[in-house]
Amino acid sequence: MIFQQQTKLIGGEQELADDGRFYGVTNSGRSSLRWLIQSMELKGKTVLVPDFVCQIVIDVLLEFDIKIHFYAVGDDFDFVLPNSLEDIDVIYIVKYFGHESKSFKLALKMSTRPLIIDDVFGTDVPNIEAPILWGYFNSLRKITAISDFSQIVANVPLVEIDRKSLSVFSSLKYQAKRVKSEFINTCIGEQIEYLAVFEQAENMLNSHEGIFKPEDKSVVLAGQFQRNYIDSQSIRQKNLKIAKECLNSSQYIDICPEFPSFLPLILHQRDKVRRGLMDHGVFLAVHWPETIQSENGLSCKILSLPLDPRYSDRDIKWVCALIKKLEQ
Ligand SMILES: Cc1ncc(COP(=O)(O)O)c(C=O)c1O
Repeated sequence: MIFQQQTKLIGGEQELADDGRFYGVTNSGRSSLRWLIQSMELKGKTVLVPDFVCQIVIDVLLEFDIKIHFYAVGDDFDFVLPNSLEDIDVIYIVKYFGHESKSFKLALKMSTRPLIIDDVFGTDVPNIEAPILWGYFNSLRKITAISDFSQIVANVPLVEIDRKSLSVFSSLKYQAKRVKSEFINTCIGEQIEYLAVFEQAENMLNSHEGIFKPEDKSVVLAGQFQRNYIDSQSIRQKNLKIAKECLNSSQYIDICPEFPSFLPLILHQRDKVRRGLMDHGVFLAVHWPETIQSENGLSCKILSLPLDPRYSDRDIKWVCALIKKLEQ
């Protein structure tokens, strides 16, 4: 029936256009990666992987008998892919710290091979113009207080799987987070208590090879995170700006993420600075140490400065001043 529409059609169920995308949620980046590998039928195939990446990515690819070729990532996160991609089935690219380097953007625009887009510290699918198959995932558990949550978006259907629950992992993480909160806010308990529980939880995740769903609490917290997105983003942007102003330009990689998580610091005396910071109660992570399978130029000098809303202007200025003093 042709509808003679004088005014806008009002009421009834909300309509939704097909966007050609397929969506999934899991408890972690690794679960999402496993789901993408199965959906993109990559078992036994050859994947081109950056030499700067975390060990778990390599381990998951190897679980599926994937042959790995490495490409080099530079100090500014730019990279050059080999001229011939004849033997390559898929290219794995990382949106480092939420930053789109020139070569990352180029891959999204011009790639002739399917892409796995790893946005471990990000929140949203980038603009992909190349007419290729692609699968995107993030790990919101890494940049929020949520214990177990990761999103997948792909332009290939996600295979039907029976996602199992790993509820002990999630509850251990929430337990550790609660103890840490009590320690920080009321001085109850010991640091060693929550550190041990965090470690126990991560060991449990490491020892389970599977695709797990997020727990209900985490799904609800992920909704809350989205509601507070704009406020969180503006604090993170402010913290990023302050950190860049406080440090020497040679002391960080000049990233411009939409939703900052960490500022990657480049420190020639990284381990000395890191130890010195610990003496002041500042514990900064190394994302990522070298993997067993590859070397790179970044792992020995990189350190991550957190920029999330737990930290005020004062905190960021204080940590940056300390870093500069310790590097002298
Ligand atoms: C680059 C990168 N990709 C994927 C992952 C896996 O995320 P998850 O620990 O949530 O499984 C990590 C974990 O640190 C990572 O650093």
